[in-house]
Amino acid sequence: MLTAKTLRPASRLDAFIRRIAAQRACLNAAAALIAPLDGPVLELGLGNGRTFDHLRTLFPARDIYVFDIEVAAHPACIPDNAHMRLGDFRESLPGFAREGKPPAALVHADIGSPDRARDAALAAWLGPALVPVVRPGAIVATDRALVTVDWEALDLPAGIVPGDYSMYRVR
Ligand SMILES: C[S@@+](CC[C@H](N)C(=O)[O-])C[C@H]1O[C@@H](n2cnc3c(N)ncnc32)[C@H](O)[C@@H]1O
Repeated sequence: MLTAKTLRPASRLDAFIRRIAAQRACLNAAAALIAPLDGPVLELGLGNGRTFDHLRTLFPARDIYVFDIEVAAHPACIPDNAHMRLGDFRESLPGFAREGKPPAALVHADIGSPDRARDAALAAWLGPALVPVVRPGAIVATDRALVTVDWEALDLPAGIVPGDYSMYRVR
């Protein structure tokens, strides 16, 4: 991609900064959108813990349940055991649905990997799998588009390149 400012192809550094900026802008926008809604936040993809840390600054009063197949985060960004769900999403998310927790007001799915085919299959599975754990009006922000659910696709914050992030409102 040629950037307007530089008229040179985007480097991997450019793409990384764009993606991380999109992520923060979408989470900040989501915070305003869910302000009137009760419910916890679900974080799919603890990774290094960066977005979990951002979410807990945005939502100090909400429960934030975090899902990952492993805990490999910065030591300061590891959820307590009561809020961590370890295992493959395909098992931990249905398991969470069976726990009977209040439906989530926000889901952040940061599930991307360098393997686009693997990500597409996971994202196709994820949309329907989220239906039992979200409330009407909930916001879903994700780095991989959810094409298998009929939710309202929201406009992205100014300056975000479509495809870098997606936001939906659950009907
Ligand atoms: C892009 S990283 C998340 C980065 C994180 N949000 C951060 O800000 O540091 C994606 C994470 O998803 C996890 N993941 C990918 N596929 C998974 C699956 N099927 N089940 C559970 N975790 C998975 C990986 O282990 C990885 O930690």
